[in-house]
Amino acid sequence: MSVERKVVASKVAVITIDGPSGAGKGTISRIVAKKLGYHYLDSGALYRLLGLASKRHNVKLTNIKALSTLAEHMDISFTTASNGDFSVHLEGENVTRELRTEDTGLLASQVAGFPEVRVALLKRQQSFAQGPGLVADGRDMGTTVFPDAPVKLYLTASAEERASRRYKELLGKGENVSLPALVEQVRSRDERDMNREASPLRSAEDAIEIDTSSMSIQEVTDRVLNLLAIKGYVPHP
Ligand code: DC
Repeated sequence: MSVERKVVASKVAVITIDGPSGAGKGTISRIVAKKLGYHYLDSGALYRLLGLASKRHNVKLTNIKALSTLAEHMDISFTTASNGDFSVHLEGENVTRELRTEDTGLLASQVAGFPEVRVALLKRQQSFAQGPGLVADGRDMGTTVFPDAPVKLYLTASAEERASRRYKELLGKGENVSLPALVEQVRSRDERDMNREASPLRSAEDAIEIDTSSMSIQEVTDRVLNLLAIKGYVPHP
C-alpha cells in the first residue's frame, strides 16, 4: 500500500504549514486560522493521540494491524473554546496536557513511522477540510495529505534555535532540563522524521520556505499574512 497515493483535489481552500518540530508551525497556524476564520488541523496531535490510545489499550507498537485499526476508529475530538483555548479529547477524556509530554511525543514519532498507520489516518486528516477553509499543520500536509493545496508553507529554523525555544518553554513550566541534551533530541527527532520511508518530512516543491531562526512570532505572522494577501486570502495590511 503506498502512502504517496494521490488524493482527490479538495474544493475547500487549504493552507498547509509543514516543517520540523519547534519551527513555530503550531503557533503560526493557529494565528492564521483564527485570522481567516478557517478550521485548524494539528496533524501531530493525531499521531500523539494514537500513541496514547495504543498505550491505554495495550496495543504493542509491533502489532501494526491493531495500530491501524485503532488509528481509524479511535474516539477523538478537538474543541476550541470562545477564549481561543484549544483542547483535545480521547474517549471523552481531556488529554490536552498529556498529549504534549516528551513520552507521548516519542510514542507519536514511533507510530508515525508505519506506512499502514499513515494511510489509516489519511482520510481522518482530509475530513478536516471543510468550508470556509483549513489551515493544516504537520510534516506531510503539502506533500501527501493535501497535495493540491493552493498555498503551501514550509517553516524551518536551526536545531539550536528550536532547542532553545523548547528549553525556555520547559524552564517556564518549572522543568529542569539541559540545553545540549535538547539540541541532541531535536537533531535525532529530525533525523527520524526526515529519513523514514513513509512520508518523510520534506518541503513540497511548490512550498514557500521561511526560516524563522531569527524572527519573532510577530515577524513570521506578518510575513505569512503578507503572502496570503498577495494570494488574495486576506486584505493587504
Ligand atoms: O508536531 P508534533 O511534535 O506534535 O508531532 C508528533 C510526531 O508525529 C512527530 O514525531 C512527527 C509525527 N508527525 C508526522 O509524522 N506527520 C505529521 N503530519 C505530523 C506529525
